[in-house]
Amino acid sequence: MSERKTVLQLTGVCKRFKGVFAVNHVDLNVQEGEIHALLGENGAGKSTLIKVMTGVYSADSGRIELCGTAVSPQSPLDAQRHGISTVYQEVNLLPNLSVAHNLYLGREPRRFGCIQWRRLQKDAQALLRQFDLNIDVSESLSSYSIAIQQLVAIARAVDCSAKVLILDEPTASLDAKEVVVLFRILRSLRDKGVAILFVTHFLDQVYDLTDRITVLRNGEKVGTFNTAELPRPQLVAHMLGKELQSIEAEKTASRSDDTANTTLQVERLSTSQGLRDINFRAQAGDAVGLAGLLGSGRSEVCAALFGLAPLTEGQLSLRGNHYRPKSPADAIACGIALCPEDRKIEGIVHPLSVRENMILALQAKRGWWRPLPRHEQNQLAADATARLRIVCSDPEKPIGELSGGNQQKVILARWLMTHPNVLVLDEPTRGIDIGAHAEILQLIRQLCAEGMTLIVASSEIEELVAFSNKILVLRDKQLHTVIEADAISENAVLAAIAGSN
Ligand SMILES: Nc1ncnc2c1ncn2[C@@H]1O[C@H](COP(=O)(O)OP(=O)(O)OP(=O)(O)O)[C@@H](O)[C@H]1O
Ligand SMILES: [Mg+2]
Repeated sequence: MSERKTVLQLTGVCKRFKGVFAVNHVDLNVQEGEIHALLGENGAGKSTLIKVMTGVYSADSGRIELCGTAVSPQSPLDAQRHGISTVYQEVNLLPNLSVAHNLYLGREPRRFGCIQWRRLQKDAQALLRQFDLNIDVSESLSSYSIAIQQLVAIARAVDCSAKVLILDEPTASLDAKEVVVLFRILRSLRDKGVAILFVTHFLDQVYDLTDRITVLRNGEKVGTFNTAELPRPQLVAHMLGKELQSIEAEKTASRSDDTANTTLQVERLSTSQGLRDINFRAQAGDAVGLAGLLGSGRSEVCAALFGLAPLTEGQLSLRGNHYRPKSPADAIACGIALCPEDRKIEGIVHPLSVRENMILALQAKRGWWRPLPRHEQNQLAADATARLRIVCSDPEKPIGELSGGNQQKVILARWLMTHPNVLVLDEPTRGIDIGAHAEILQLIRQLCAEGMTLIVASSEIEELVAFSNKILVLRDKQLHTVIEADAISENAVLAAIAGSN
């Protein structure tokens, strides 16, 4: 492997924000025909390093060489001209333009200076077919789910990629099936000699796909390793700087299904988003998992409970009272909170600080005419930062200055502060590193033990099995199977998701 040609070489790269090193003297070499994982905890400096090599930020010092020649890309487009294409952690396409136009933005097929729209659409369709994606490419990008938007961003990067392809958490919103397709495409690019740098928090994917691993910790490089020679516990130890304490896989205790204790009852629920005839019941202390493929209706159930999608049929009740939320404000007032799937759009309020982002929902619940005293806000922010182990030196920082995973924890903190009776989490561990992942699973168990009801939608079956005492498997926006208590296992959930009946 070491005889391979180095395509991208970084030497002594540094990037500071307000004097603090986000990336500290990092060396990295990515070779032709390899898939190289860039790993580290939330805030380790992965995205910053990528942004330095692709011209989003300029390095404070250090050298970037592409095939032996020093380069300093001035913008992502400039990097692309050099042969480096990137999918950033946050999808940065133009939501109002069509899917087809996004795929060829800045490189539209032209004839006599005019864009050839018909050809653009045909090419777009053919490109997406490689990803098993048969969608109407003339529709605006925003009309599709985040997963599809992510696939479009990946397809664009793959199609542009000449020498180096960089993917920052590309699989965060994808389902198993789409990941398989993506990996097939990445492997074929690798075989063609493309150098691929891949950031992920899913260690299974690292071992499945990559040839070498570089680990960052606190902005510094820990080392580069051959994947096949680095056992998983050692990898985790390199990332965390300590051994990961094994979390006991103790499930939330199952309870007898006692109607009197029911916190949330869902009967024949159908919604404008296509859900049909969903029935289930959850008690205080229950963790109800929502499983199913992308598009099966997981997120739609979350949206309906939070007043984001009008009911067309059926009824909900909360602690025995009729519940028909017309808006999130209704839901919050009734003690339901939702931590949404797409935090970039629905969650983060950019001009505001970390503290202000955290107290937002609690303040809304109290009413804006009753502002929380500042010292209480400070205390709440400090407690949440400690409880969720958020890496943030100053709660007065703009939230945009936190790493992606830490921003997610801030949103989780926001909803926990409202002390809801029912907390709905849509993909709670997406983008969260392995250390924090374990902490969030533990937190879910702890909240259940405190009597909260949790409804958790996730594409991570292993994670659902770890904490749920009831799993609802959805298919085609309908409830397909309910798996409870001792019957819960990964195999049982997989069989229900994939089964033919
Ligand atoms: N624009 C910015 N301004 C100030 N600080 C920043 C900025 N971007 C990143 N940082 C800081 O740099 C450090 C590294 O962040 P980075 O986003 O590179 O982490 P990461 O490894 O990608 O983490 P994650 O897994 O959470 O995405 C963090 O401490 C973060 O707060
Ligand atoms: Mg990142």
